[in-house]
Amino acid sequence: MARVVVTRRLPDGGLDPLVAAGHEVVARDDDTPFTHDELCAAARESDAIVCLLTDRIDADVLDAGVAGGRLRVVANVAVGYDNIDVRAAAERGIAVTNTPGVLDETTADLAFLLILGAARLASDAERDLRTGVWDGWEITEYLGVDVHGATLGIVGFGRIGQAVARRASGFGMQVRHHTRRDTGIPGWTDDLDGLCAASDFVSLHTPLTDETRHLIDARRLALMKPTAVLVNTARGPVVDEAALADALHEGRLFAAGIDVYEREPEVHPRLLTAPRAMLLPHLGSASVATRVRMAHLACEGALAVLAGTTPPNLVHP
Ligand code: DGY
Repeated sequence: MARVVVTRRLPDGGLDPLVAAGHEVVARDDDTPFTHDELCAAARESDAIVCLLTDRIDADVLDAGVAGGRLRVVANVAVGYDNIDVRAAAERGIAVTNTPGVLDETTADLAFLLILGAARLASDAERDLRTGVWDGWEITEYLGVDVHGATLGIVGFGRIGQAVARRASGFGMQVRHHTRRDTGIPGWTDDLDGLCAASDFVSLHTPLTDETRHLIDARRLALMKPTAVLVNTARGPVVDEAALADALHEGRLFAAGIDVYEREPEVHPRLLTAPRAMLLPHLGSASVATRVRMAHLACEGALAVLAGTTPPNLVHP
């Protein structure tokens, strides 16, 4: 029987696969994130850690796992794994797993919500209604931009980017996409600058890596049309948040739909006050069914490693 520490509260039933396998599951009712020291203690005293993207699993935590002599797997309940030093884990013989494939459609739904909501100024308009600012229909108020028929540039064309493209075709959008390597799919371009300049909507679906940090910076924002909308459901640091806030405040970009932030849960104060910004609290995958599927897939990854097999959701450095 292995000892599995789960760093935060998971959706009801999320840990069922681990429990059914008969392992000692140390789950928490408390939903405050572990401190770094608590993560180290968990690594020292367990065979597996099931963690969330709010847990920074760095070399120190992994070293604690090595010192404890037990830790074999870190199972992240997220598809993104920039919170884990995957290379350091591999060097120490500790497996890392993630949750690909189970949250694509839910996250794409959310990206499309942001495309529509930002384009139609839904956040600003709802705030005005709730705060009593709205005083009746006017023909010149809340004028957004059309989604139907517009050009959508998708940056990163993995499963989620492709799921967004499917939705976009239902809206009659012209879809182009950028990845570094040719996807062989119509609409591909290697020219990110050109994609930014030509698109009415740019939606980001890249993982966070050294190459994608601030991929959308002040220079690329300046290339975008003043009527364009930027949507980010990937990772906050892919966008220079201060530069985005400036572009919105100065009217150089029409609108933004943002679900992820550079320093979560902090949001750049100028982004919070920016006009035409629809801001959501990192809820891309937040449907009941998807969050349970994510938890189960994380458990299955941990179980496979504990059983000495290679899980399909093993992350390679
Ligand atoms: C992920 O899985 O990486 C998301 O950001 C949270 O669902």
